[in-house]
Amino acid sequence: MHHLAAAKQRGEKITMLTAYDAVTATLLDAAGVDMFLVGDSIGNVMHGHTTTLPVTVDDMIPPARAVARATQRALVVVDLPFGSYEAGPEQALATGVRMMKETGVQAVKLEGGVRVAPQIRALSDAGIPVVGHLGFTPQSEHALGGHRVQGRGDEAAEALADDALAVQEAGAVAVVLEMVPVDVAERITEILRIPTIGIGAGARCDGQVLVWTDMAGMTEWAPRFAKRYAELGRALTAAATEYVEDVKKGTFPDADHSFLE
Ligand code: KIV
Ligand code: NA
Repeated sequence: MHHLAAAKQRGEKITMLTAYDAVTATLLDAAGVDMFLVGDSIGNVMHGHTTTLPVTVDDMIPPARAVARATQRALVVVDLPFGSYEAGPEQALATGVRMMKETGVQAVKLEGGVRVAPQIRALSDAGIPVVGHLGFTPQSEHALGGHRVQGRGDEAAEALADDALAVQEAGAVAVVLEMVPVDVAERITEILRIPTIGIGAGARCDGQVLVWTDMAGMTEWAPRFAKRYAELGRALTAAATEYVEDVKKGTFPDADHSFLE
């Protein structure tokens, strides 16, 4: 994990995308992405939930395993889902150990600052690299009153900086900053030795993360901060439409796609 801090020192941007399965991880790994996040956003993106709250450790293990198996190059991080670490360091450690034993990922991520510093410490002391997650933290979206920019105003910015320092002091190797004003993210990036990885947190972070389906334009709606680098959703529907037409017309399968003897 030292190469993350080294990348920050060199001023080299760190790239991260979510991944939830082997086929996608293979394609994205070939693009040279530095890190994968098997995010609990799988709840929204792949499992049809409206929040990440219902996602369980049992839900996370098969996708984390699949991504770890398919990945040659990137560092794989898995989210500790809601309810699997909040009770205290012992619970966090038990969950973290299970993730490491059963999936082959290299690090875990959990949400929160000062309040989860003991959990980060316990995991780090056990040799499990931890990525923090501050700002808008989806697992607490009800407490935060919805998808809102966090750290606006002096007091909130100060509290966010305190959380970031607590996460670093507890041993985290990096921290995600989600939906944070650009200047607040910049200041936190300056005061930390560990890299900040932004999502909706401006260009001054040490790295960036996006949900891959947002990045690739798989869905109609995506958050404002997520740039669409492709229209894969439309491409997929177009391919399936053509397939349906071919089968209905009888033009598929043709001789090339049949066993003639
Ligand atoms: O689960 C996830 O996709 C995340 C990123 C948005 C950072 O936590
Ligand atoms: Na997450």
